Amino acid sequence: MSTDTAAPTHNGPDEAAIAVADADSSDVTSTAANKHGYRGFALGAFAFARDEYFAYITWPTGQHVMSVDTFLRAIQRDIAWDFFYGIVNFDGVFGTMNHYGNVDLFAGRYNDAYRKAELDHMENVETPIIRDTFTAIIKDWTNEGFDPFASPAETGSAFGPKSGNNDAAVTRQRVTAARMVGLPGDEQPRSDDSGFPVNRHFLDVSQQEPQVNPEPGYEDRVAAFSLKAYLSRSDVTWNPSVVSVCRDSLMCPTTEEYILPIIHGNDRSEWFIQLSDEITWEVEDRDTGRKRATVVAKAGDVAAMPADIRHQGYSPKRSMLLVWENNSGEIPELINSGQVKPQPVDFG
Ligand code: PHB
Ligand code: FE
Repeated sequence: MSTDTAAPTHNGPDEAAIAVADADSSDVTSTAANKHGYRGFALGAFAFARDEYFAYITWPTGQHVMSVDTFLRAIQRDIAWDFFYGIVNFDGVFGTMNHYGNVDLFAGRYNDAYRKAELDHMENVETPIIRDTFTAIIKDWTNEGFDPFASPAETGSAFGPKSGNNDAAVTRQRVTAARMVGLPGDEQPRSDDSGFPVNRHFLDVSQQEPQVNPEPGYEDRVAAFSLKAYLSRSDVTWNPSVVSVCRDSLMCPTTEEYILPIIHGNDRSEWFIQLSDEITWEVEDRDTGRKRATVVAKAGDVAAMPADIRHQGYSPKRSMLLVWENNSGEIPELINSGQVKPQPVDFG
């Protein structure tokens, strides 16, 4: 049987073809383009390759294949969120765990079957190195017309031989207000003129903005904006932006459609307030992947997602979700040491 793909043989990638330096950054180790036009990449003992349909990940004790659209949507979030809180599982096998300064890159580490078979592998890498490598991968592997942040109904195909790029989309900055959207010098509400038309699923959302009349001297401190109007104009999905900050309390609303491209393993609890429509959350044990719950969140529902779970959401039409995060760097250790419970509230 001959394989159609240059790099991902079942014996692992062609080590000889791995070049030491990369044009974009000296941190990045990559190969020349394969016959489909895509470069291969290496990070520690992990190697990455793509062909027309798939992303291939290999490590000393195993190999893994993912549909490349799923892979690109996941790596896009991991980069844009700078490895996020806790674990970003690309699927049930491969992912990253953030230690805020360095990152574990793992395969099978949070998968009972891989652990029992001793096929799991993990490497710890400095954040700048994984950031540069993942950015080089997404830039090389994303074709013109495919936006990993867009809903599948609003973007082109990820598949096929290499054809152009979409650097403007894949290097998008996440919106993070310093204080609150609308305050002078901070992030501003969206409009047609700033390039954010109302999304097709939110045409019924009122675009009326509140009137604000601050007393003289308070212009810098008093502001208001319509959160629903703001969200109705989001051009991305599954990408919480920070719209207000009060010390460690971050309001991170987002618009959701189709499937959350990662399975998020929490390292703290998060509150979800479903602002519109409906999301089904599959909730599993964070470390083994064993099923824990299915949560159907309808407009107005509030849920606390504990620190010891992982979850993935399914949104059949575009919906609005408010994620409330506690950004304190002390929380993971307080939970790991047992000083704080993994759930923020006990009922009954
Ligand atoms: C989460 O993992 O909590 C999460 C991530 C992205 C979203 C929503 C929720 O868009
Ligand atoms: Fe989460």
